[in-house]
Amino acid sequence: MAASATRTISFILNGEKVAAEIKPHHNLVELLQREFNLMGARESCGQGMCGCCTVLVNGAAVSGCLYLAAFVDGAEVRTVESLANPSTLDLNPVQEAFIEAGAFQCGYCTPGFVLMTTQLLDAHPDPDEDQIRHYLWSRSPRASAKTLAPRDRVPAPYRVPRSCIRHARA
Ligand code: FES
Repeated sequence: MAASATRTISFILNGEKVAAEIKPHHNLVELLQREFNLMGARESCGQGMCGCCTVLVNGAAVSGCLYLAAFVDGAEVRTVESLANPSTLDLNPVQEAFIEAGAFQCGYCTPGFVLMTTQLLDAHPDPDEDQIRHYLWSRSPRASAKTLAPRDRVPAPYRVPRSCIRHARA
């Protein structure tokens, strides 16, 4: 097969079965943006460090900048666009908590951290500091991460108390 050959993959995207033509080098962010016009996962560092491109694949957060599109064939993919209620457009509790806590600056990385927080709370409904650090602080400290990071690791202006997590759990 030639390097530029396309193939068809199918997967569940935000609850709906979809199919797409991909090339072997396409990453997940490219697939979501080009084929489905989903812009919530954005590429920034392109090295798996910042979390801006986070997507949930089979419930696990992956870096869409490094994750080949071919890997989602047959998988369940969830993007930040799936979180709001599609009928009412009401935001989900994690999104509401980020707004309430002001847990962002420019907002570029916020969708990724909303998804990481979603994964955290799915796995640990009442997370402790170590679990929060593991899920959120393992990424490079961009604005959303700073606001959610353990208090002793960030300057006061960037702190958001654990109430952000508590609001999201409520
Ligand atoms: S753009 Fe993928 S982790 Fe930074």
